[in-house]
Amino acid sequence: MGTVVDAANKGVNGSLPNEKKFKVVFVLGGPGSGKGTQCANIVEHFGFTHLSAGDLLRAEIKSGSENGTMIQNMIKEGKIVPSEVTVKLLQRAMQESDNDKFLIDGFPRNEENRAAFENVTGIVPEFVLFFDCSEEEMEKRLLSRNQGRDDDNIETIKKRFNVFVESSLPVIEYYGSKGKVQKIDACKPVEEVFAAVKAIFTQVHEKEVVG
Ligand code: ADP
Ligand code: C5P
Ligand code: MG
Repeated sequence: MGTVVDAANKGVNGSLPNEKKFKVVFVLGGPGSGKGTQCANIVEHFGFTHLSAGDLLRAEIKSGSENGTMIQNMIKEGKIVPSEVTVKLLQRAMQESDNDKFLIDGFPRNEENRAAFENVTGIVPEFVLFFDCSEEEMEKRLLSRNQGRDDDNIETIKKRFNVFVESSLPVIEYYGSKGKVQKIDACKPVEEVFAAVKAIFTQVHEKEVVG
């Protein structure tokens, strides 16, 4: 349950406060690099709430929202939905949560996403977890994901890889220049990737405790 203090911190008109009440970790990596899989593990061990931008957009399509058709078409083409839409969904999910620690998965996907989120919420991520994986391995994983997704076909996958290189990698480089990127070799088996993830979250937690 949210407390009165929580409500006050969320500010007027439901806007998020500029002060750092929420702790956010961005989880980035190419399509099929294992972001969703590892976020589920992190939630279990470290008490974060997982917000996948892609999942929120797919839920928005299902809800029959007025933006549904536009979102559906963009996902089918592997394109990035306007930030206004995605930031609103993320903001609402954070406001509705009782938690104050979020893994934001698959966002920011481009410079526009990054700037819009920072401007609207005032939140700067604690760090960025970057799952680094070869296209060959990611393609194999996506083609056998079997979740009935419109975009897990070879034609859309190729487009998504291009968008990742052209629009998303520069965002990772931006955070890299600020010393905020924790890069992980995500081509390894799930358990090995999680061992590396766990080491990072444990180290960050210890730093916080020590001050
Ligand atoms: P993302 O969210 O980055 O697109 P997912 O977590 O959905 O990726 O993983 C894509 C597919 O690959 C899923 O079917 C998942 O089970 C599988 N997968 C995830 N991590 C690994 C891994 N380390 N090795 C092999 N397969 C994996
Ligand atoms: O992260 P995920 O693979 O679920 O994203 C699926 C699709 O959702 C992306 O290819 C893109 O079309 C859309 N998306 C977006 N903006 C984001 C995250 C996802 O437009 N920040
Ligand atoms: Mg995912």
